[in-house]
Amino acid sequence: MIRLALLCLVLHPLSGQSLRELAEQHKTRIGAAVAPAHLGEEPYAATLAREFNQVQPENATKFGPVHPARDSYNFVPADTLAAFAREHQMAMRGHTLLWHRQNPRWLTEGNFKPEELSAILHEHINSVMGHFAGQIYAWDVVNEAFNDDGTLRHTIWSDGLGPAYIEQALRWAHEADPKALLFYNDYSAEAINAKSDAIYKMAQDFKTRGVPLDGIGLQMHLRARESIPFESMAANIKRLTDLGLQVQITELDVRLPVDASGVASRGDLGLQALIYRGIARVCLLSARCTALQTWGFTDKYSWIPGEYPGFGAALLFDANYGPKASYNAFRDLLMPSIK
Ligand code: XIL
Repeated sequence: MIRLALLCLVLHPLSGQSLRELAEQHKTRIGAAVAPAHLGEEPYAATLAREFNQVQPENATKFGPVHPARDSYNFVPADTLAAFAREHQMAMRGHTLLWHRQNPRWLTEGNFKPEELSAILHEHINSVMGHFAGQIYAWDVVNEAFNDDGTLRHTIWSDGLGPAYIEQALRWAHEADPKALLFYNDYSAEAINAKSDAIYKMAQDFKTRGVPLDGIGLQMHLRARESIPFESMAANIKRLTDLGLQVQITELDVRLPVDASGVASRGDLGLQALIYRGIARVCLLSARCTALQTWGFTDKYSWIPGEYPGFGAALLFDANYGPKASYNAFRDLLMPSIK
């Protein structure tokens, strides 16, 4: 009998509760970044709907893809995702209204004067947030505005509009969709360091002056063979949530060295699972860490091999949608008795 049960477990590693069901018991959200073009692939759509209760377009609502010409918007891919989210009762995040990457050439090469750039941005925020009002509950309004040393990054926005652009964008975003939660999102600002100090100071100032900011997104693009400062991450989440903000883990992945066919070593896959578990724990331990989201979910489609040659295998499911050790670690941690 026991043998039979074990055999069933091996044959059906996915029997039992899904990540989504477990997350719902914790009243939290487990999300994934999605490329709407893959939703027609049956195992992609089925895995997404079964395991996650939140989606976010990986690229479809960035400035370039969504606003490809000055007078035209392309909402079709993100609308497809919004329809999928509705059908499967999933929450949807939006990403991102202002960034220094993936901007269209008409914008970056337009040589706009500050007033014109300001009008363009205002109109962009109104149109995009207006279009998705009621469908997207939270927006990464500004992405990656700081350098690692805590200084403000030079971007089309900071250079053209001055350092107050973040505050201005948040105010316009609040007017465009007063019900949406507004986030500032960044990478390498998970633990306490110069960058997260700068973000903390900004958030504290915004809270004091009533600038509409609801949360901080911590991207969490990690590497398996580095030491992960879990304690310091928890301390950073605590100081942010003590300001009355939410924190969401927005882009978690843990990249591994891979061979030419994209295969990682068993040892690294084990390390990766420990990191996924540790991050889930850090988030679940805070009542105001309100979402845990990975940057994609299958190793079949991940930005890692393109961005970091020689690395890959960064997600919860392998390229055939099989659950990895990282999935099991995530799931164990979400089991109600373990926290
Ligand atoms: C990445 C996408 O995954 C890629 O497909 C695209 O080519 C570049 O952008 N931080 C972010 C995300 O905030 O928007 C980035 O997404 C990954 C790093």
